[in-house]
Amino acid sequence: MTNQELCTLAINAMDRAYVPYSGYTVGAALLTTSGKVFIGCNIENAAYSPTICAERTAIFKAVSEGEKDFVKIAVAGGKGGKIEGAFPPCGVCRQVMAEFCDKNFEVLVVTSKDSFEKYTLADLLPHSFSKDCM
Ligand code: THU
Repeated sequence: MTNQELCTLAINAMDRAYVPYSGYTVGAALLTTSGKVFIGCNIENAAYSPTICAERTAIFKAVSEGEKDFVKIAVAGGKGGKIEGAFPPCGVCRQVMAEFCDKNFEVLVVTSKDSFEKYTLADLLPHSFSKDCM
């Protein structure tokens, strides 16, 4: 699984988004150490706060299927299904990543159909609070 292949899966997952309120479709593709890929999309709600992001959908799907060891995640998003630059993970998703992933976990932020930016979790959430602090 190349980085670009994982990004393409994230882009394809945008089609699954349920976004009647914001119109922003987001897709994620999470690679586990066992080689499986879990995809996720954002799922909105009329009460707004129950909305879940694409990244957490993918992570929670994996955890609920017994997978907790992750290598990297790709994230793609944009208004009306169009990617017009980076759509980086929100703070809540970064915190959820910090629960399961170490600081070297890679986050591929899609910037177009065939380009992405590569970060580590430590880049995106430095000095994080996690179970290592407890
Ligand atoms: N969203 C994600 O799916 N992932 C993020 O990390 C940022 C935000 C979604 C939530 C909401 O449905 C829409 O994008 C606009 O905020």
